Amino acid sequence: MKVLVVGGGGREHALAWKLKQSPKVTQVYCAPGNAGTAQIATNIDISPKNLGALAVWAAENKIALTVVGPEAPLADGLADVFAEHGLKVFGPTKEAARLEYSKNFAKEIMLKAGVRTAEGACFDSAEEAKEYIREKGAPIVVKADGLASGKGVIVAQTLEEALAAVDEFMVEQTMGDAGNTVVVEEKLEGKEASVMAIVDGETVLPMVVSQDYKRLLDGDDGPNTGGMGAVSPTSVLPDEKVAQMVEDIFIPVIRELWARGTRYTGFLYAGVMIDPAGAVRVLEFNCRLGDPETQILMLRLQSDLFSALLAAVNGNLETVELKWSKDAAACVVASSRGYPKQVDDGKVIEGLFEPSERIVAFHAGTRGDEDGKVVSKGGRILAVAALGSSVSAALDNAYANLKRISFDGMHFRSDIGRNS
Ligand code: AMP
Ligand code: GLY
Repeated sequence: MKVLVVGGGGREHALAWKLKQSPKVTQVYCAPGNAGTAQIATNIDISPKNLGALAVWAAENKIALTVVGPEAPLADGLADVFAEHGLKVFGPTKEAARLEYSKNFAKEIMLKAGVRTAEGACFDSAEEAKEYIREKGAPIVVKADGLASGKGVIVAQTLEEALAAVDEFMVEQTMGDAGNTVVVEEKLEGKEASVMAIVDGETVLPMVVSQDYKRLLDGDDGPNTGGMGAVSPTSVLPDEKVAQMVEDIFIPVIRELWARGTRYTGFLYAGVMIDPAGAVRVLEFNCRLGDPETQILMLRLQSDLFSALLAAVNGNLETVELKWSKDAAACVVASSRGYPKQVDDGKVIEGLFEPSERIVAFHAGTRGDEDGKVVSKGGRILAVAALGSSVSAALDNAYANLKRISFDGMHFRSDIGRNS
């Protein structure tokens, strides 16, 4: 059967790599893909924004299943458009994806479903938001309601910072329409973990827990990024606790959506904060897998991902069990000079190596140039992911192999996994 992966980052390379291992999959396509997916799949030059063209292409090419990587096409309604064309797609509808693209909606659902989260309020008036902030005091968190590519959250240490964040989002509109409404909430303390699951509307099939490192620089310093590395498992939230997460978070949220007439089918990601006493609160939901968490989850996953996702689309997820490697996995991201602010592209990437089942350099911002060389496209360029008998062994493996690779302006953190 033929599979289409929508997206072109490291997460999509990892999904394509895993889907291709299924004995049921004859061909993997990626739209638009990158230089890494080009080596294992066929890249299709259609933008994930162009939903109609994608659906027509998928129908003409008899795609059995489409798997969507990033949130933007889901928020635009990709799953709805594909359904209209009679195509099978693993990803939530536009209405269900609101869990990610409206922080206010997610808060409302959590509150109704009894899911623990930060206490807060939602505002569409800057003056009212500021009044609430003055009343509560700092530290406090200000979030743009809509999609903002990870840049819509300000964790303000002072009152001035929080008030400035309101002006930035609501008055200067630095995030466009995403900042027309803001959520203001208490700052939670603790350590973060990523809990992801495959959902078919009723059944929730959890994946193992991972932890990503969002700050650009060592010591959790510098600006927030999409993620500079990840490890799984993590002592912050052991894998054995995931069943409790399903009970306390995923099932109540899916039921609350269902009560409103919305069936959630797709990956669901809960970013959680675990406080020093062990209490778990939800920071956010994503309607997709994490990047770079997916790169390590795909290495640890021993079961056939394609069969699991197809079962979910067909509403049979309760028949599926996922097997995970007892080994740990870790990945380290290499980004380009200037990330996350500027784009520095066209640098030749040297030292790329043949992947194995235990070590893969998953590409993100890469493309092939006219001479057949792999060059950078800016942003996060690649992530070397590796298995090991422990997190520390997996990290050693990832770092040793990352150091074989070089490009002008290459940056990576040297302390991934060292502070969990
Ligand atoms: P979000 O997009 O909501 O996950 O926010 C991005 C990042 O901001 C999270 O991964 C946290 O590091 C931080 N963050 C968000 N909400 C809070 C909160 N209520 N308390 C502390 N940190 C937060
Ligand atoms: N790595 C965090 C995310 O994908 O949202």
